[in-house]
Amino acid sequence: MADTFDAIVIGGGPGGYNAAIRLGQLGLKAACIDKRGTFGGTCLNVGCIPSKALLHASERFHEAESDFAKLGIKAKVSLDLPAMMAQKSKVVGELTRGVEFLLKKNKAEAITGEARITAPGKVSVTLADGKTRELTAPNIIIATGSDVAQLPGITIDEKQVVSSTGALALEKVPGRLLVVGAGVIGLELGSVWRRLGSEVTVVEFLDRVTPGIDLEISKAFQRVLTKQGFTFHLSTKVTGVEKAKSGLKVTVEPAAGGDKQVIETDVVLVAIGRVPYTAGLGLAEVGVAMDKRGRVITDNHYKTNVPGIWAVGDCREGVMLAHKAEDEAAACAEIIAGKAGHVNYDAIPSVIYTFPEVATVGKSEEELKAAGVAYKVGKFPFTANARAKTIAATDGMVKILADAKTDKVLGCAILGPEAGNLIAEVVLAMEFGASSEDIARTCHSHPTLTEAVRQAAMGVEGWTMQM
Ligand code: FAD
Ligand code: NAI
Repeated sequence: MADTFDAIVIGGGPGGYNAAIRLGQLGLKAACIDKRGTFGGTCLNVGCIPSKALLHASERFHEAESDFAKLGIKAKVSLDLPAMMAQKSKVVGELTRGVEFLLKKNKAEAITGEARITAPGKVSVTLADGKTRELTAPNIIIATGSDVAQLPGITIDEKQVVSSTGALALEKVPGRLLVVGAGVIGLELGSVWRRLGSEVTVVEFLDRVTPGIDLEISKAFQRVLTKQGFTFHLSTKVTGVEKAKSGLKVTVEPAAGGDKQVIETDVVLVAIGRVPYTAGLGLAEVGVAMDKRGRVITDNHYKTNVPGIWAVGDCREGVMLAHKAEDEAAACAEIIAGKAGHVNYDAIPSVIYTFPEVATVGKSEEELKAAGVAYKVGKFPFTANARAKTIAATDGMVKILADAKTDKVLGCAILGPEAGNLIAEVVLAMEFGASSEDIARTCHSHPTLTEAVRQAAMGVEGWTMQM
C-alpha cells in the first residue's frame, strides 16, 4: 500500500471519518487511522449509538409496562436484558462496519493502529501486530476526540463505579444507581436504568440540572424527571466512594462545604463531562499549541499553529457533539481542497434523548439577557397540542426567542415528545436568517407536534391561536 497521502486523518470518529469521506469526494487521497479496532469513534462504539439503542428499548419497555394500560392495551411484560444488550451491539456492529464501507467507497484507506505525529507531514502508526508504518502527507488532521473526565480520588472500574462506557454494558439492573453529574449523560443513562427498574439518585454540583440550557426549560425538565422517580441532590458534591459489604458508600457534602452525608448505592455512574484526548500523539514534540483545558488550538479554519496540521471535533474548542465534529470535518476537508468551508456555530442543535426529549438551538433567554439583547418570547405548551393529546405525551413546551426589533429567530428550546426532530425546522429557519413570523406563517400539517412550534412562533407577536 502507498504510504504517501494528500491528508492523514488521525481518529475514526465523526470528525475523522467524515473528513476522510469528504476529502475522497473532493478527489484527495486520505488515510483514516483509529486505534480502537472498529471505526466510528466514541459516537458509534460507546456514545450516541449504543445509548440511543438502549434509550429506545428501555422507553418501549417502560411504555409497555406502565402506559399501555392507559391506552386500553393489556400486556404482560418482562425484561430480557442480555437480548436488549445484544440488539444494541448488533446496531453498533452494523454502523461501525458501515463507516469502513464508506471510507472504502470514497477511496480512503482505513488503518487500525495508534498514530503519532513525528514531524509536520509525518505520522508513525503502530499496528496491532507491533509493526510500524510510516506515512507522509502535506496535511494531517487531528480528530482524536475526547475521553471521560475523572473525579479525583475515585477509581472507575467499569463494574461498580462506571463511566458512560460501563453504564452501557451493565450485566444486571442495579437496585440503586447513583449518578454524579446532572448533565446529558447522567440524565440519558439515568433514564435507561430508571425505566428498567433502578432507583436513581443524581448528585449535581451546581444548583440546577443541564447547565447551559434555558433555565425555564431546565426546571420543567427536572420536574418531569422527578415525577418519573429520579431523586436529585443539587448544589452537592461527591467527596468519596468506598466499597461496602454489599454495594458502595458514597460520601456527599454541600458544594459550598458543610456536613457530610453518606448515600448507599449499588453502582455509581461518573458523568461530570469529557476532556479532549490527545495523549501519545506527539503534539508537544512537534510544537502544536494547546489551551489550559488540553484542547488543540486552531483558528477559524481549523489550522493549528503548525503549518499543515489541522484539528476538528471534540479535541478542539466548542460543544462536544457528533454533528459539530461532522460539520467541522467537512469544512476542514473543503478548506484543504481549496474551497470555502464554513460552520455556522449559531445554528448547532443539541438534543437530550430522554422522555420527553430536550432540544435547543441558538441562544437561551439567560444568554440574551446577559448580552443585553432586546428579545421577545413565544411559548406553547404541549397540553394544548392536539397530537400530543392523542399520543398521551403532553409534558413540556416550545419556547422561541426572537430579536425585539427585527424578529430574527435567535434561539429555541423545546421540552417535549420528538423535540429532537421538532428543532430541525427552527435550525433551518435560523440558517436562513428567518423571522419568527416566517415560521408562524408557514403551513404546518394537522394534527402534528410541529404545530406546537408554529403556535410558539405566533406567540412571539402575541397571536397564538390555539390557546
Ligand atoms: P471521537 O468520536 O471520540 O473519535 C476519536 C477517535 O480517535 C477514537 O475512536 C479514538 O480511538 C481515536 N484515537 C485517539 N487517539 C488516537 C491515536 N493516537 N491514534 C489512532 N486513533 C486515535 N453526540 C451527539 O451529537 N449526539 C448524541 O446522542 C451523543 N451521545 C453520546 C453519548 C455518550 C455516552 C457519549 C460518551 C458521547 C455522546 N455524544 C453524542 C458525543 C459524541 O460521541 C462526540 O461528540 C463525538 O464522538 C466526537 O467525535 P470526534 O470524531 O471528535 O471524536
Ligand atoms: P455534561 O457537561 O453534560 O454534564 C456534566 C455535569 O456534571 C454538569 O451538570 C456539571 O455541573 C456536573 N459536575 C461537574 N463536576 C461535578 C462534580 N464534581 N460533582 C457533581 N457534579 C459535577 O457532561 P456529560 O453528561 O458527562 O457528557 C459529556 C458530553 O458528552 C456532553 O457535554 C455532550 O457534549 C456529550 N453527550 C451528548 C449527548 C447528546 O447529544 N444527546 C449524550 C451524551 C453525551
